[in-house]
Amino acid sequence: MINAQAVNHLGIAVHSIAAQQHYYDTTLGAKLEAIEDVPSQNVRVAFYRVGDVRLELLEPTTIDSPIAAFLAKRGEGLHHIAFTVSDIAQRLAELKSAGVRLIDEMPRAGAHGARIAFLHPKSTAGVLTELCEPSAT
Ligand code: CO
Repeated sequence: MINAQAVNHLGIAVHSIAAQQHYYDTTLGAKLEAIEDVPSQNVRVAFYRVGDVRLELLEPTTIDSPIAAFLAKRGEGLHHIAFTVSDIAQRLAELKSAGVRLIDEMPRAGAHGARIAFLHPKSTAGVLTELCEPSAT
């Protein structure tokens, strides 16, 4: 099982982080923690903290970014939910053997040095789901 320990973050697709910061800074009043490029996913991410949960704004940095494809199809909005897990490689192996469809068979590098992997929404009740094992440091 996923054995989620917490909701780590909610991923939100945007055309432009800069264009949406007014909403997050001023209307929502959330706290900007970091803006970071994640070349492995062809995105730039901005993390806003709300209590224990982060909002991860995802802006595509290339035309073939998965976020660019999402924006073209669905427009801006909620993209995925990420759960904190431990032993992500073990979780993926267990889920695969249980018949859960994986997008990433192996963990890859996410923001903040986390290891992440996506599960297919066909196996997760229609919600694109990310497993996130935060870095130990
Ligand atoms: Co994410």
